[in-house]
Amino acid sequence: TETKSRLIEEIQMWKEKRNAIILAHNYEIPEVQDIADVLGDSLMLARAAAETTADVIVFCGVHFMAETAAVLNPEKTVLLPDLKAGCSLADSITADQLREWKAEHPEAVVVAYVNTTAEVKALSDYCCTSSNAVDIVNSIPADQEILFLPDMFLGSFVQKETGRDNMQIWMGECHVHAGIQPDQVDEVMAKHPEADLLVHPECGCSTSSMYLMSEGVLPKEKTHILSTGNMLKHSKNADASEFVIATEVGIIHQMQKQNPDKRFIAANDQAICPFMKMITLEKVLDALKENKHVITVEKDIADQAKLSIERMISIG
Ligand code: 13P
Ligand code: SF4
Repeated sequence: TETKSRLIEEIQMWKEKRNAIILAHNYEIPEVQDIADVLGDSLMLARAAAETTADVIVFCGVHFMAETAAVLNPEKTVLLPDLKAGCSLADSITADQLREWKAEHPEAVVVAYVNTTAEVKALSDYCCTSSNAVDIVNSIPADQEILFLPDMFLGSFVQKETGRDNMQIWMGECHVHAGIQPDQVDEVMAKHPEADLLVHPECGCSTSSMYLMSEGVLPKEKTHILSTGNMLKHSKNADASEFVIATEVGIIHQMQKQNPDKRFIAANDQAICPFMKMITLEKVLDALKENKHVITVEKDIADQAKLSIERMISIG
């Protein structure tokens, strides 16, 4: 812990020296969450990146998030402390695959989840996150065909919520959320029948939870499908004293910190995103000291991607 406090002091010093801000996602390791200036879900972090007056943004998250910050701030320095921090979901569709898909549906508008490369965003009309995907789709005229990508579970959640049948969904998934199985959720819920169940829409079990709610198996008032930011809000405001959490387990640190008297139980304690865990205090310090790794997006792509990202930031 002596090393840890020294690291934190040095990070603070370098942060001031460089007029830097640290943005961190809710899935980061506890030490990194604890030094963040802004800790949040994808939408909150994109908004923070759009609004900051800092010269340097240290992004403690994954590559597509740093890219989004770079698109919004071409004149600022955006640093990702580990270049290997990628995303299996963002990797599930390439720009070429999207070009082909669009060619098959020339009249459709494209709604891309923020978990995509800047190149894919540049080919999209709207970008969304899990907290505003339903609002974004609802803002598009009902008779307009939509290509939704890349997450199939978020896609089918949005389709059910909006009741749209003119929505094509790409068959991508996040390996961490897809790994949280419906029977694991059932098993944990059976042990904690009084708990509120909070499910991220990237989970395969989100669709089965919706089905189970409609069948009356899961109580509607205790089952909530939410982004990570909205899970944090819910756990603070709800009356329940126990919560079963179906998402990446890193978020439980923050829930527990904000609500020391409540109990948080992972639906699957192996739901760990290896990419989010790559960022450490040591790497944050090195990033600030050695100006690495600078994330930039080619101007043409950035200009195109910016349009869909700005729509995402302004809706919902
Ligand atoms: P949110 O924090 O926006 O809910 O996104 C979850 C996620 O998987 C980010 O990679
Ligand atoms: Fe990507 Fe899944 Fe990790 Fe989020 S949890 S960064 S969607 S691999």
